[in-house]
This record gives sequence, structure tokens and C-alpha cells, in this order.
Amino acid sequence: MHALPQQASPVIRLRDYQPPAWRVESIELEVELDIDASEIVARLQLRRDPAQSLPLRLDGENLQLLSIALDGRALDAEAYRYDGCVLEIDGARDGSMLETRVRVRPAANTALEGLYLSGPRESGFLLTQCEAEGFRHITFFPDRPDVLSTYTVTLRADRARFPVLLAGGNPTGAGELEGGRHWARFVDPHPKPSYLFALVAGRLEHLARDYRTADGRAVQLKIWAEADAIGRCGYALDALERAMRWDEQRYGRNYDLDVFHVVATHDFNMGAMENKGLNIFNAKYLLADPDSTTDDEYRHVEAVVAHEYFHNWSGNRVTCRDWFQLSLKEGLTVFREQSFSADMNSAPLKRIEDVALLRRAQFPEDAGPLAHPVRPAQYSEINNFYTATVYEKGAELVRMLAGRLGADGFRRGMDLYFERNDGRAATLEDFLGALGEANGTDLLPYLAWYGQSGTPRLRAQGHHDAARREYTLKLGQHAPGNAGPSARTPLPIPVKLALFASDGRMLPLQLAGEATDAGSERVVVLEQAEQALVFTGVEAPPVPSLLRGFSAPVILECDYTPAELALLLAHDPDGFNRWEAGQLLAARAYENLRDGSTDTSLQAWCGALARLFADDGMDDALLADLLTPPGEIELAEREGAVDPGRIHQLRQALQRTLAERLGADALEQRYRTLAARRSIALDAASQASRRLSRRLLELLEACASERALPLAAAQYRDAPGMTDRLAALAVLARGQADEGERALADYRQRYAGNALALDKWFAVQAQLPGLAALPRVMRLEKDAAFTLHNPNRVQSLLGTFVRANPSGFHRADGAAYRFLTERLGELDALNPQVAARLATAFNGWQRLEPGRRALAQAAIAELAGRAGLSRNLGEIIGNVLN
Ligand code: ARG
Ligand code: ZN
Repeated sequence: MHALPQQASPVIRLRDYQPPAWRVESIELEVELDIDASEIVARLQLRRDPAQSLPLRLDGENLQLLSIALDGRALDAEAYRYDGCVLEIDGARDGSMLETRVRVRPAANTALEGLYLSGPRESGFLLTQCEAEGFRHITFFPDRPDVLSTYTVTLRADRARFPVLLAGGNPTGAGELEGGRHWARFVDPHPKPSYLFALVAGRLEHLARDYRTADGRAVQLKIWAEADAIGRCGYALDALERAMRWDEQRYGRNYDLDVFHVVATHDFNMGAMENKGLNIFNAKYLLADPDSTTDDEYRHVEAVVAHEYFHNWSGNRVTCRDWFQLSLKEGLTVFREQSFSADMNSAPLKRIEDVALLRRAQFPEDAGPLAHPVRPAQYSEINNFYTATVYEKGAELVRMLAGRLGADGFRRGMDLYFERNDGRAATLEDFLGALGEANGTDLLPYLAWYGQSGTPRLRAQGHHDAARREYTLKLGQHAPGNAGPSARTPLPIPVKLALFASDGRMLPLQLAGEATDAGSERVVVLEQAEQALVFTGVEAPPVPSLLRGFSAPVILECDYTPAELALLLAHDPDGFNRWEAGQLLAARAYENLRDGSTDTSLQAWCGALARLFADDGMDDALLADLLTPPGEIELAEREGAVDPGRIHQLRQALQRTLAERLGADALEQRYRTLAARRSIALDAASQASRRLSRRLLELLEACASERALPLAAAQYRDAPGMTDRLAALAVLARGQADEGERALADYRQRYAGNALALDKWFAVQAQLPGLAALPRVMRLEKDAAFTLHNPNRVQSLLGTFVRANPSGFHRADGAAYRFLTERLGELDALNPQVAARLATAFNGWQRLEPGRRALAQAAIAELAGRAGLSRNLGEIIGNVLN
């Protein structure tokens, strides 16, 4: 065999897409499992596209090729070439059968892509992660999502070491072999792309439940985890059942195999993976119990379990033609997951949470050097595109479409999409086409949203004409500077709106020239660059409530007065817009403090919140959110030359001002009332009271820390569950007194054997503001429980520090920048995906104030100049530097 020279990482472009020259109709895999060296035999039934004449090329990386045969005959070395990435084979015909045998090394696989070991080598288990391109680390295959095959998988292993053997599909047989070995076989009748393949082998326990689908199929649900974790899987099993019912009722989608397996691992690069019939989860999104799981984490478990299950239709039955279409499955599935969570919990709170995440994670991404369209035009490493833009902005685009079609129309469109594309690898055009066609409307203008980066701006300006009793609302849109060449056409922007009278009542909406009024809320789709709406019969200047429910992912520019925002904050029945008015007002109040400007925003914000605080009718959870100003990352988005240390101080001052206005006595009294009702119940009211009690304690900390710290110490000690305990621990840790260190030491010992709880211990300390953070992080790296080999641990300590602690990471002396580039070098050699994700912390460095900017640039440039960076880290650093 001839070795070809290794290529530099090429750029893959959407416009270069070609259908596969060779497909695989079916694949038979035989896997001999072993920790150090596993052997895989693959038999591929090949189909050639008669319109193409390319030779057979298969992807394969980190594979030791042991033998290769075509149509039953071993191949001569002259008949194939392998360059370490691609295996090229001569002589294949349509209908040929190719057999390869390879060896892989699971225990040496620190990148956690392909077949790898989770846990210690004596007791851990083997598992796979294939999305996006991990299957090529298991066998030679056309590893692209538009090659769909049926899978027959036979696993063999030592029975004592690997008592449980699982693969995707239905189990069709199992038995004993000589020498204490055993085997198990799985057949998946649904053709699928290779990224959905999975296997698991090891010592695992399970929790089972029988389920019957709406269309009558008996399904065994099984959740698998290691013995010490199986007791924490009950919540996930219940959530799975809820998700399955919901998808039947809301989308008419039934499950389609006889078994559905879910497996928990502590060693996982991402959140979870929707492998057909065998979902694999990062333990942090599957395990839950009151002693170690917070309310927020419970909701995440429910959401991620649902997300992966929903992929069975939006992703698996209908998959993606190529990775540029990633949002076709991810944006859609996040939208489905958000709708499910809204139905299971509080819809307005869920909307607030989702938009807050969008602003914290996606808006900054879209405003910086890593910005890319929801459907990117090019990549060199696809794993770098599992981003907030593809997921969260992608979900917002689906939400706009759903809103535009209405519930029934969207369901009709989704039915047609699933029906028409079942068993196919589809594109975003297929999606928009089906939704539009089922509703007799053209949705292709929405494609523009998928092709441009940056957050569009929506400008709104109102004018009241008293003599004509008319209110004119001018709407205009403009694309951000980085939107790219396609941004010249205006986007369709659905604007849900209402008008308020000065007493807080909603006005009936009567557009000039329309016969009947359309109630007090309506959606106007802005399709031009500018458009004016004229409302008639408006006696006095109204206050517009715009983008209700956040009807489009844009930045609204509207010159509200503080009094107008206070009015919406007090009266808007749209829970989201009520919160939004408070956020806008808080951002203005922040500017009062920052610039010494003298408008009345600060008083208006505090005054409005004081009234809501005193209002018995307020929902506790919404009140907690209203009492929370925008975070430091969001505030930084509004500034030119960012000084994260100053932003932190100003936001603290803002909270102190609010807390003083509410009054330490009132805060403490309300806190004590809530504390007296503490429980671990998960109902909405109990969660809401924990949420509010946490916020009140933090506000008390802001205005009277000497009163907050003893309360926190008692709360830490008496907490019935993790939500209360962790909230108290964070306050104590920030207090930086002996109680703080005592509580941290207690927690460390109490949860020594619980990885997920320990992650939170690292994260709490990684969030200490300012100069205290870096030395603390460096000290924690020496803790016996810290390791660069575990992605969750890296994320909890390093990820939290560099991505969720702006004042700590952006030290004026630049020491944390150099710290990060050092760690990136070490991590990149172990796990390029994790290194690349951590490196996105440098996004936005260009907007730092000059001193920090220069230090960040020097650190990034030094890293970029190093030899041997992975394709993952190399692409991120290259893009960041621009
Ligand atoms: N498809 C998974 C999800 O549900 C994400 C897997 C991504 N994995 C990766 N290595 N890029 O969202
Ligand atoms: Zn997903």
C-alpha cells in the first residue's frame, strides 16, 4: 500500500456539496471488545451512483488496518491507499461487498470521540460517541450524514468484565462463547447515518418501565448507569415518559423500536447524544436527586431527556443532508424541547430563561469574530459549529415560523415535513418548503435569516397626532455590520405588539383602512426596510409593547422614557415583556450610575420594583427574575471599550441601590417567611419560593452583608436540598470570611464521592469576582479531584472561570489570559473538542479597553503561533484573531 502525504486541514464549503458517489445499503459490524485493543470487522454492501465515476473512498482515522477484502478476496497492497484519513480502494463495483478488519485503542482515546473508556480501567465501561465524525474512528466508512444504512451489530466480550452489551436497534439474540465470553446482536431496521451508531459495554445497572405508544407498540424503556448512580435515574425515566406522550399528542410522533435505552456517563464532551435507540447522556443531564441536584438542574434534565428523545423524529427519521444543515435538526429540536418545557412548567418563566440564555451566549457570539450564520457557509472542523447560534438562534427561527403559521398550520406543516422526508437526509429548503406548502404560503424569504450572521436591529418610533386621534408607529430594520453580503435584502420580522393607555389598560387596535379591529394584540410582519403603521381612534399618546414574547431574535431600539418602561413593568400582562421592560429600565439605571446621567431610570426602576415587591399577587418566581438586573456579559454588550472589572462594580452598586430601596428589614423579613417553608418539593410554588429566597438573600448580601452571612450560614447548615444549600454556599464563599472556608470544606467532604456535586463546588469558587479568582482556580487545580481528562471537571473549574466570570478572567494584568493559553496547550493534546470550546472565551477581545485588549491579543497570538494545534483549536484561534 502507498502512503499519501498528509493534507493540511481543508475548508469544507456548502456550495461544494456533491451527493455521495458510493452509498452503503447495509452494514454488518462485529466488535470484539477489550479495554486496550478492540477489533472491528465491518461488511459494507456498496451501491454506486451511476452518474459519478469516482473511486471508492472511505473515511477512517486512528485505525490500525488489519485486513481488507473485496467481494470475498483479500486485496493486494497495490489495490488500496490509506493516508491516515481516507482509504481509497480500486476495483469496487455497484453491489460489491467490502470487508475490513481494524484495531482501535479505547483506553488511549482521551479525545472521547469514537470508542472510548469511561472511568477507571479496572471498573469503567466502554462506549462510543460518533456525532459528528466519530464513526470514522471505529471503522472505514463514508462518514457523512447523507449515507443511510441498516445496521446489524454483533458485540463480543468477556462476560465478567462486560456483563452488559448494548447497541442501537432491536435485540435479536445473545449467548455464551468459549473462555467466559458472550455475545449479543442488535438489528436496526431504520436506515440511519453513521453518526447515529452507538454501542455500550460494561458493568451497568438499569431501571426499566413498560411503555405503550399511542399507535400500540410495546416498548421497553431502560435507563442504564453505574451502580452508585442508578438510584438517581428515576426522575429521568419519568421525564422520558412525559416526553414520549407529549410528542404523540403535540406532533403525532410515535416511537418506532421495541426498546429505548438511555445510558449515563461522567465522561462526555457534550450534553447528550440521540443515537438511534441508545441515547447516551452526560450524567449531569440524567442523574437527579434532591440532595445533589438544584431546581435549575432538574429542569435541565427534563429538557435534555426530551430533546434527545425528540431527535428520534427531528434528526433520526428525518436527518440532515450535510453538516451545514445542522440547525435543521438542532434548532428544530431545541424549539420542540422549549415548547415541551413550557408546557411542563411555567411558559413565561421558560421564555425569560431562553431569551436570557440567547442574550448571554448567542448575541455575544454573533457580535464577535466567531459569528456565523445559522447555516454556516464553511468550516474546517464541524465540531466547532455546535454553537449557540446553530442551536438557540436556530430555535428562534423555528419559533418565528411556528408563530407565523399558528398552532394548526405549524402542525400541518410539520406533518408534511415528516411524511415527505421520512428516511431521507433533508435540507433547510425541504423544511421551509413543507411548512409553506402545507399552508399555501411561501416561507422561502425566511431563508435569509439562515444565511446571515449578526443580530439584526429593529428600530421603532411612535408619533401621536391628537387632532386626528392617530398613533403612527414607524418600524425599520437594519443589518448589523458583520451580517455578510446576503444581508442586503430585508428580513421578514414578526413583531407582536400591543398599545397601553397611561392607566395601564391595553387599547383596542384599529389599523387605518381596516374594517374591524383585531383585538388588543397582533402580529405585524415587517417585510421592508421600513414600514409605518397607523392606528386610529387613539385619544392620547400610548405606550407600545413591542416584540411581545420576544417574537423575533433582534435588538430593539426604541426611545422609551423611564416612566413608559415603568408602566410596562407594572402592567404588561405578557410576562416576558414585563420582564423585558424591567431589563431595559435596569440597563438604563446602570447607565445612570456609570455616566452620572440624570434621567430618572434608577428611581423608576427601584420604585416600580418596590411596588411589585409589596404586591401580594405577584408570582414568587417572576418576582425573583424581575429583581435580577441584566448580567455582566449582557451589560458588556452595550459598551464600547469593555472594562469587566468596572462593569462588575457598577452592577453591584446597582443591586445595592435596589436593595437599599427595598430595605434590609423588608428583605430579611420576606426571606425568613420563605425560609420557614423550606422543602425539597418540586412543585412550581416550592421552586418559586426557593428562587425568590435566593434572590432576597443576594440582595441582602448587597446592602447588608453582615446580616446576610449569618442567614447564609444557617441556610447552608439546614438546607433540605441542593438548591438552598448551593445558594447559601455561593453567598458564604463570596463573603470570604472563615464561615465561607468552613462551608466550602464541609461541602468538599460531604460530597467527596459525588462527581456532579463536586463540579458545583469547583464552579462556585471559579465565580469569585475580581482578583481573588485566579489564585483560587490555580489552587483548586491541585485538588486531588481535579483532572484535565474529565470534560465536566474542566468545564466546572476552567470553563466557569473563563466564560462565566468576566471580572475574574479579564484581570487588568492579563495573567488569566496567559493562564488560559497554557491550559489550552495541555488540553488540546488530550481533547481538542474541549480545548476549542474553552478557547471561545477569547471571543470579544477586540472590544476590551485598550490595556486588556493588547494583553489578550498578545496571548492569543502566541498561542496561534504554536506548532501542532488541533484542527479544532486551530480554527477557533484563527477565527478569533481574524
Ligand atoms: N446531537 C447532540 C445533541 O443532542 C449533540 C452532539 C454533538 N457532539 C459533538 N461532538 N459535536 O444536541
Ligand atoms: Zn440535539
